[in-house]
Amino acid sequence: MSETPLLEASELTRRFRSRQGVMSAVDRVSFRLMRGEHLGIVGASGSGKSTVAKLVQRLLPATEGHIYYSGRDVTNLGERALRPLRRRIQSVSQNPYASLFPNKSIGQNIVEPMLLHRMGSPKERMDSAMRLMRQVGVPSEQFYAFPHEISGGQQQRIAIARALALHPELLILDEAVSSLDVSIQAQILHLLVELQGQYSLTYLFVSHNLAVVRMICTQVAVMFLGRIVELGPVSEIFSHPAHPYTQALLAAVPDFSSARPAGADVPQEVDSEPEPPSPYRLPSGCRYRTLCPIATQRCESEEPQLRTVGAGQHAACHYSGGAEAEPDPARTEREGVR
Ligand SMILES: Nc1ncnc2c1ncn2[C@@H]1O[C@H](COP(=O)(O)OP(=O)(O)O)[C@@H](O)[C@H]1O
Ligand SMILES: [Mg+2]
Repeated sequence: MSETPLLEASELTRRFRSRQGVMSAVDRVSFRLMRGEHLGIVGASGSGKSTVAKLVQRLLPATEGHIYYSGRDVTNLGERALRPLRRRIQSVSQNPYASLFPNKSIGQNIVEPMLLHRMGSPKERMDSAMRLMRQVGVPSEQFYAFPHEISGGQQQRIAIARALALHPELLILDEAVSSLDVSIQAQILHLLVELQGQYSLTYLFVSHNLAVVRMICTQVAVMFLGRIVELGPVSEIFSHPAHPYTQALLAAVPDFSSARPAGADVPQEVDSEPEPPSPYRLPSGCRYRTLCPIATQRCESEEPQLRTVGAGQHAACHYSGGAEAEPDPARTEREGVR
């Protein structure tokens, strides 16, 4: 018998209608996030990462599919029934200043959620806020400072402290360090790693930055135009990405250029990047095929589904290893023998 995931998405779909037509921002997305694991969701802008984050927090209704929390189907729970869940799931967003009450002191900002959920006495809440401030590296003497009086990095530390105030199980971080200077980013990332263990947290970590995901996460889901194209342990995917899109993403990051298929030529200068398809007019079959260097006729006619290609590793590509893959001599040569 396997353990129950803390969070599970099953065939989650979210469609949006606009003047341009109907598109699926998130298309049949499934994953299981176990307690104490940390799932990174990566992909280009517009691939549906934030929509997944909003769907699992029930901030946006799903068009189809299900969300399970600790094994319970929470897809259609009413606001009242959701309240205890809202405490167990907290989030940190990209813009710390916008997420704080500007006219409340930073200490009061941390106290606020405890007040809302009627936790502790006024003294206990204040002590708890002071403790959290120290924990995230903001001196508690700053309790009465206002958000605009502290730096962006400090503001993000306070946003994190506030998210922790209710002792959540799941922390959802959507581009939580993306707006910060690189040196500040590193500090906040170290803090996030420290807190994972201290608070027994599980992270759902959305980022377009692969290096950051490798530092924080144990699992990674790679999204392309609403679909998960690759899913599995960070250790597997970062060392031998199976999907051509993951390979392209990793090859674009200097740190990971070793993940590039051996012998593959990386163009020094790309004159005109091929345009990704419009989400309103997806190609038939595999939606990555118009950008894919190894696409064949089969990719035009048949949409690849996620299937096992390695230890816990899944890829949605007809030609990514695994038992069903057809041998492709050209590709074998490019990748070398592993
Ligand atoms: N409320 C909305 N109405 C219409 N389209 C939306 C809405 N929210 C997101 N989208 C579209 O859904 C796609 C995915 O968006 P998003 O989840 O924000 O991507 P990401 O976070 O990966 O950049 C984008 O094409 C975006 O334009
Ligand atoms: Mg986003």
